[in-house]
Amino acid sequence: MEHFISVEQLTKTQLLTILKQAKAYKSSYPQNLEQIFCANLFYEPSTRTKMSFIVAERKLGIEVLDFNESISSTKKGESLYDTAKTFEAIGADLLVIRHPSDDWIEELQDISIPIINAGAGKKEHPTQCLLDLLTIYEEFGTFENLKITISGDIKHSRVAHSNVNALRKLGAEVYLSAPEGLEDPLLDVTYISMNQAVDISDVVMMLRVQHERHSQVQKNAHYLDMYGLTKLREKRMKNHAIILHPAPVNRGVEIDSELIECDRSRIFKQMENGVYVRMAIIIKLLKEWGMTTNENIIEKYNKTIHFEKARNM
Ligand code: CP
Repeated sequence: MEHFISVEQLTKTQLLTILKQAKAYKSSYPQNLEQIFCANLFYEPSTRTKMSFIVAERKLGIEVLDFNESISSTKKGESLYDTAKTFEAIGADLLVIRHPSDDWIEELQDISIPIINAGAGKKEHPTQCLLDLLTIYEEFGTFENLKITISGDIKHSRVAHSNVNALRKLGAEVYLSAPEGLEDPLLDVTYISMNQAVDISDVVMMLRVQHERHSQVQKNAHYLDMYGLTKLREKRMKNHAIILHPAPVNRGVEIDSELIECDRSRIFKQMENGVYVRMAIIIKLLKEWGMTTNENIIEKYNKTIHFEKARNM
């Protein structure tokens, strides 16, 4: 794999291997690669993704090159390509990039180090998808026949776009729920109401309205009652059903504030899992690019895969 830009790059088997690898890292993780430098180039605000990449990188013993866009040469007009090329020139081995453009990867075809997509406009957020998958996988141990509803501002959500196809690839039955005007006509998925969603779903994934990507005004109380996860709707959910949200959360808009840490919420578990899936995808890329020969890492990586294969036979 050259870069990790889209979950579409991964087969069902590869997705499951990464989830199993991430689970293995949760209990014990390899440390101290040879000296590897990683630059985190975030051109949009981020708390979870950026910080969990940094934790993942440091757990692996990677040297983190931090980049603050607001005081970088971007302010003097430097392009994304020239910035990426600069990091490559000064010795970065890996780039993690978040940028508001849907298609920023197209500018970076001549970069010759691996790149991980940490968010591309409204198009893709593949590592968020992996951590959502891991959270569901830990809960249910399978995706086959699970009913999963993604609800909210579908049209502007890179999380929804990454998750729909990956969940279907793994065997889940996916539904969408959105206010009028926030549906995405390009996604061929059945839309249902929030009341239907809570009645039928094993997983309800709530999304916030992406105000930074459009100017459609949503009145908070009206939005929660019409389209959000209220306390009354939560009571209608199946006993075993769980709530996900990629966060940040707009409390009292798409979800009642009291539900964020309720028994069926896995919102903070999702954040925890972000560290481990990011470790797994970093190691996959470094290994496939021949950037680590650390036998411990490769041995541990292979052992986990062989162990899981044997267990599944
Ligand atoms: N879920 C997510 O991408 O959060 P951040 O914007 O804080 O990284």
